[in-house]
Amino acid sequence: MKIGIDKIGFYAPHLFVDMNKLAVSRNVEPEKFTIGIGQEKMSIPPITQDPVTLAANAALEVLDEKDKEAIDFVIFGTESGIDSSKSAGVYVHDLLGLNPYARVIEVKQACYGATAGIQMAKGHIALNPKSKVLVLGSDIARYGLDTPGEATQGAGAVALVISADPNIMALEDQSVYFTSDIMDFWRPVYSDKAFVDGKLSNEQYISFFSKVWEQYKTKSGLELNDFEAICFHLPYTKMGLKALKTVLDEGSEDAKERLVANYKISTGYNRNVGNIYTGSLYLSLLSLIEQKDDLAERSRIGLFSYGSGAVGEFFTGILQPNYREHLYVGKHNNLFSARKEVTVPEYEEIFQQTLPTDGSTVNLDINNDPASICLSGMDDNKRQYVNKVK
Ligand code: COA
Repeated sequence: MKIGIDKIGFYAPHLFVDMNKLAVSRNVEPEKFTIGIGQEKMSIPPITQDPVTLAANAALEVLDEKDKEAIDFVIFGTESGIDSSKSAGVYVHDLLGLNPYARVIEVKQACYGATAGIQMAKGHIALNPKSKVLVLGSDIARYGLDTPGEATQGAGAVALVISADPNIMALEDQSVYFTSDIMDFWRPVYSDKAFVDGKLSNEQYISFFSKVWEQYKTKSGLELNDFEAICFHLPYTKMGLKALKTVLDEGSEDAKERLVANYKISTGYNRNVGNIYTGSLYLSLLSLIEQKDDLAERSRIGLFSYGSGAVGEFFTGILQPNYREHLYVGKHNNLFSARKEVTVPEYEEIFQQTLPTDGSTVNLDINNDPASICLSGMDDNKRQYVNKVK
């Protein structure tokens, strides 16, 4: 039985900052951000968007009534969760009106959470072939104003429906995963910003890629030439390229050219959104399959997932016949073209807005937020959500 990705939804907030302008205001050369880091625009979440609403908006665009009935497992991958106890997925389950006979959990392992969700979903579908699983990867990446990590912030979510006989990509059985205790990136529960040893995280990312790739080749008998493209977790778009370059010489001239060209296409959305942590790898996959319109059916795509701390995994999927008919290219083009630029001072002001932590009531103005699902306020330490289209 084939199991894999049946649908992919995506949402990013309607505001962005231009990285050239951010660079000028931080006194660095714009090329450092646009070439050295590889980012053009950074999504800015207004206070009316949080990881719950981002995920719910991403799922809303792809789920039909049949999906809502068949989904009996929601797995919410995030590292910017809003509650240490209650799963963010339970709010999404309600906002989307999903079948109540469902399991809902939140998964945490830095940027690896959604990949863990996909692998769990695969096992669930193998046991329950008629079920569908909704896997969410939703995050707001915050390092702080004027920090080295600032240029690698972002916000957004992907929503993946995992099912039997998937329309977009069948996941292959071989996968290699690796864990080692490393302090390259962490966020203690008392901090709303991440701590990061940027250079160490770059090194470990490449080292983990090398370990899982070598093991994968031995286990699967496949080699670089067997891949049409490899998508990477992209904290910033230069990162995956650094890893890809370490293996390029294993391929034929054709393969090298193809992999570099497809890598570039696979970074298109990420370059304009920034880091969305758990969703970044899948945003890269989406960028590739939506932006390369001659990507052949049955192509094999490699996927490298990395979650600081750290867990890495390399796995693969095969694009299914007519997969393009199941994409939402037009909607995503509209999402990007409808975004509004904010100035650096406006971004800084939004960045510093916070919700009350003393139980007081606040009502947020959701009229300026075009998203269907918004955070409308807080009352008695409870977040209040609105689905404008329900
Ligand atoms: N033109 C072109 N490139 C330029 C440049 C210019 N004017 N100025 C600098 N650069 C390049 C540097 O050479 C470097 O390229 P390289 O990585 O290929 O060597 C790149 O821009 C970044 O410069 P660097 O000085 O290393 O940046 P930094 O110390 O300010 O921080 C990160 C970069 C990625 C470490 C930092 O943004 C960070 O900590 N990010 C969060 C953690 C993260 O994303 N980790 C990834 C693994 S999950």
